[in-house]
Amino acid sequence: MLDQVRALRQELENVQASNQEELESFRLKFVSRKGIISELFQGLKEAAPEDRKELGKILNQLKGLAQTKFQELIKALGEVSSKSDSAELDLTLPSGGSSLGSVHPLSAVWERVVEIFGRMGFSVSEGPEIEDDWHNFTALNFPPNHPAREMQDTFFIEKNPDIALRTHTSNVQIRVMENQQPPLRTLSPGRVFRNEAISARAHCIFHQYEILYVDENVGFADLKQTLYHFAREMFGKNVKIRFRPSFFPFTEPSAEIDISCLICNGKGCNICKYTGWVEIGGSGMVDPNVLENCGIDPQKYTGYAAGLGIERTAMLKYQINDLRLFTQNDIRFLKQFASLGF
Ligand code: DAH
Repeated sequence: MLDQVRALRQELENVQASNQEELESFRLKFVSRKGIISELFQGLKEAAPEDRKELGKILNQLKGLAQTKFQELIKALGEVSSKSDSAELDLTLPSGGSSLGSVHPLSAVWERVVEIFGRMGFSVSEGPEIEDDWHNFTALNFPPNHPAREMQDTFFIEKNPDIALRTHTSNVQIRVMENQQPPLRTLSPGRVFRNEAISARAHCIFHQYEILYVDENVGFADLKQTLYHFAREMFGKNVKIRFRPSFFPFTEPSAEIDISCLICNGKGCNICKYTGWVEIGGSGMVDPNVLENCGIDPQKYTGYAAGLGIERTAMLKYQINDLRLFTQNDIRFLKQFASLGF
């Protein structure tokens, strides 16, 4: 056994490990519980009792030596690999640069709407997306069970028919008029929800901006001029705008607002349904019932209101022919708006 120990000690002293595999085979051979030194310890049982003490001491020394050597090899290997790592890292090379995100086209339109109406004296007010029946329907002159409620496919909160996801930003009109007396001039951009199938022209979640102006002697001509001015600021001087008679419970008279199709320039496309015109919202003179519901005297005050779609506006402004692109987060689509800045 002594000869074997001597040979092993020699081997231990000379061993080198230049990679992880060699280190692992060293561990298996000398350090592990199934290794050769453990085996020698087992053999002690067969040695003559008077030699055992001495042999045990020698084996313990050998074991200590193996463990020290193992630690040395680990350390040496670590230094080698960190040296080779740093050789690959050239700190003088120019950096790859970090790519910046860009403003989402819907945010860009939202900001621009706030800016244009802001210059006309409209201040921003926002309201809740989860709304009660009064603010989303009843105060806006939708009588209970009136078929006009069917115009907007509503997401109701389960088990409470009084609460719904707002179907339009017109709820903010009510919230503003309940809390303030005229003169009122407010703009309410926000997210709205309708139970509609998703297509190139429609989505169940989209955005609107609502304008409301209430004062003495406000007339339909004021509404038209405000929207003409807005359209030229938003889309440029060549845009055409038209009003089509329509019906909304909360306005009388009411009109739908069409913009000349800037996607196909009147040639005809899927978005204008080959008519050359795209509807971007509704408008009208605030119905006297609505003013009264909010505690405003309809004998003294009149007002106009309009609600327009942010998606529709963005589609016309940037010639986008599929509304789904706004929510798909395709980086190739979003990157095209990088020049809009932050
Ligand atoms: N709330 C209507 C809708 O979402 C749009 C609308 C029409 C808003 C006429 C108005 C308005 O303020 O006067 O369909």
